[in-house]
Amino acid sequence: MNARELRKKYTEFFESKGHMLHASAPLVPIDVTGKLDQSLLFTGAGMVQFKPYFRGIAFPPHPSLVTSQKCVRAKDIEEVGNPAHLTFFEMLGNFSFGDYFKASAIDYAWEFLTGEGWLGLDPKSLCVTVFEEDDDAYALWEPKWIAVGLDPGERIVRLGEDSNYWPAGALSAGPPGPCGPCSEIFFRTVPESEMTGDYVADEKADKWLEIWNLVFMQFEWRGVVSDPERPHLGYTKQGMDPLPQQNIDTGMGLERTARVLGGFGTVYDTDVFSPIIRAISSRASKEYGVDEELDRAMRVIADHIRTASFCIADGILPSNNGRGYVLRRLIRRSILKGTRTLEIEGAFLSGLFPAVVEALGDPYIELSERGEAIRVTLAQEEAAFLKTIRQGHDRFDDIMQEKGTIDGRDAFFLYDTFGFPFEVTQELADEKGVTIDEEEYRTALKGAQDKSRKAHGAGDVFGGESEAIILAVAPDAPLHSAFVGYDRIRHATRLTQISPRFDKNQKTTGDFQVCLEETPFYAESGGQVGDTGVIEAEEFAFGINNTWKELGQIWHDCELVRFPRELVGVSDQEIGAALQSGTFFAPVLATADAQRRLDIMRNHTATHLLHAALRNVLGTHVTQAGSLVAPDRLRFDFTHGKGMTDEELASVENEVNERIAAASGVRVHQDVPIDEARKVGAMMLF
Ligand code: SER
Repeated sequence: MNARELRKKYTEFFESKGHMLHASAPLVPIDVTGKLDQSLLFTGAGMVQFKPYFRGIAFPPHPSLVTSQKCVRAKDIEEVGNPAHLTFFEMLGNFSFGDYFKASAIDYAWEFLTGEGWLGLDPKSLCVTVFEEDDDAYALWEPKWIAVGLDPGERIVRLGEDSNYWPAGALSAGPPGPCGPCSEIFFRTVPESEMTGDYVADEKADKWLEIWNLVFMQFEWRGVVSDPERPHLGYTKQGMDPLPQQNIDTGMGLERTARVLGGFGTVYDTDVFSPIIRAISSRASKEYGVDEELDRAMRVIADHIRTASFCIADGILPSNNGRGYVLRRLIRRSILKGTRTLEIEGAFLSGLFPAVVEALGDPYIELSERGEAIRVTLAQEEAAFLKTIRQGHDRFDDIMQEKGTIDGRDAFFLYDTFGFPFEVTQELADEKGVTIDEEEYRTALKGAQDKSRKAHGAGDVFGGESEAIILAVAPDAPLHSAFVGYDRIRHATRLTQISPRFDKNQKTTGDFQVCLEETPFYAESGGQVGDTGVIEAEEFAFGINNTWKELGQIWHDCELVRFPRELVGVSDQEIGAALQSGTFFAPVLATADAQRRLDIMRNHTATHLLHAALRNVLGTHVTQAGSLVAPDRLRFDFTHGKGMTDEELASVENEVNERIAAASGVRVHQDVPIDEARKVGAMMLF
C-alpha cells in the first residue's frame, strides 16, 4: 500500500465508522470560524483548525470528522534529511467533538492498524505508550495485547508529561489551548532480534518509530494568571479547566506510515517523494542511493520544495519575517544544497515543481490551480538568491582583506544577510587557512533567534508567549458575542467582559478591552479594518478605537473617557475593585462611527471591482493574496508573474471607474447555502 492508497484507506475506514470527511485547512493557521490563530506560524497539526470545536465555542458540521491535513513544522529545519524528519507532512486524523472517547479511539486505531483489509500490521511490530497517570488508557490497551498472545507489560509503556501529554508543556508553563493526555503508537523498524527490550533506549536509537498519536482532549490550559503582587484585584490563577465535552484528536503521520507499509528505509522512498527525488537526481546527474552526503542533499531539497510549493499555494510569499521568512530560508537552503553539494549549475528549483505536482497534485488541486504563481515565485526568489550568493562571496573577500581573518560575528552577519550557512563560510575560510570561532557564531545566532521567537511566536504547534492579564467576566456572560451590525450601527446591549491594560510598571493606563453581548461594531476580518465609535452607559463612557475577534468573542479596544463617579481621581486598585464589583456590567448604548463605516464599505466594494477588473485584464490566474480595506484607502495583494504595463494599469483603472460611475445597486445576500452561492458564481477563496 503506498501513501496515496493509505490516505484513501484511512478516510474509508473512518467513514465506515460514521465520520464525515472534512477538508484540510490552509497552512496559514485559519480555523473553522475563519479566524487567524495568532499563536501559531503554521498549521502544524490536524487539530489546529478545530480548536473552536474542542472549546465548544463553534459547532462542527458532524460530531466526528476525518481529515488529511497539510502541516508545516519548521522548528528543526537542520534535522531534515534524516530518515523521518520533514518540514511539510500530511497528518491523517480522526476527531470526535463530544462524541466517542478513549475506548473507541483505541478500538479504531487497533482495528485500522492490525485489521484484515485495513493495514494488517503484525502486532509484534507495534508497541504503545500511555500517560503515566492514565490507568484507563492502560486498561483499554491491555486486553488487545493479551488477545494476540503478547505481554502487555512489554507492549504498554507508561511515560511522563514530556512525551505523553499534548501539547508538551501544557501541564506546567505551556501556552494556552486545548490539551490532554495522549497515547502514542510505535512501529518497530528493525528485526526483533536487534531490540534491547528497553523501550527508551530503542526509541532513542530510532528502532521504535512513532506513527500515530491519540490525544484524549479534555482540558483547556488557560495559561493565564492574575498578578500575584496585586491580590486586591481578586482574580484567581486560572489553570486547567475541563473542556465542555470530552474530545478525540488523533494524528497519524502519512509519510512515516507509508514508509512502514512499503518496508522502506526512509520516508523519501515513498510515492509522495520518489518523483521529486528522481527529478533532482536527473537534474544533478547524480545517482540517488550511492553516496550518503549527496543523498542527504537530495532529501533536503525534496523536503523543502514540497514545503515551499504548498506555502506559496496557500498565499505565503518569501519575505524577511514570519512565515515568509521560513519560506525564504527553505528556498535558500535548497539552492545552497543544490549548487554546493550537488554542484548543479544555474537555476534548478522551479524546474522541480512539476515533480511535486506528480507526487501530490492528486488530491491537492491547489498545486495545479496555483501552479503558475508557484513556479514564478520560486524562479524569482532563486534568481535573486543566486545574485546574493555572488555578493556574499564578494563581501567575504572584503572582510578577509580588511581584517585578514573572519570571526564568529562576521560568520553570523554573512548568514543573516546573505543566507550563508556556517559550514559554507567555514569552507571558504578553510581555503584561506582561517578557523572561525563557532561558539561566537552560535551566541550571535541564538540572540537573533530569541529575538525573532519573541516577535513571531515559537513556531511550534503552539507558540507565542502568554502574558499575564486580568479579566472580569459578568456572571452570565455568553461564550459568543453576537454581531448585529449588518443592518444597524447603534444598538442597546450590555457589557459582558472587561480587561484593563497595564503599562510596563503594571499600572493601569486607562485603556481597556471590553466585550458586549451583542455588538454593531464590525470586527477586523478578511482585511477590513475594525469599527470605531463609542460605548456609553449612565455612569461611564468608552471611546472605541478598534474592534477584533478572538475565540468567538468580539473585543473592543477602548479608552475610558467618562468615569464612574467613584473612580474619578482614584488609583488602579480602585479600578480593580470596581471591575470586581461589577460596576461596568451595565446596560450600554453602542454606536459605531457611521460615516467611517460607510467609507470602509465603499472601499470593500472597490476591492471586489478591482479584483474582477484584474482578472479581466490580466487573466483568471489573478487571485487575492491579501487585502487591506480602510476608510481612506484600500490595498489589494495578488500574484502575477511580472509587473503590469501602463496600458494594463489604465485598462484596470478605467474598468473600475466605469463600474463606479454606473452606480449599480449593491445588494446583500445574507446566509446563502454554499451550493447556491456557487451556482450564482460567487467567488470563494478559502
Ligand atoms: N495533535 C496531536 C499531534 O499533533 C494528534 O493529532 O500529535
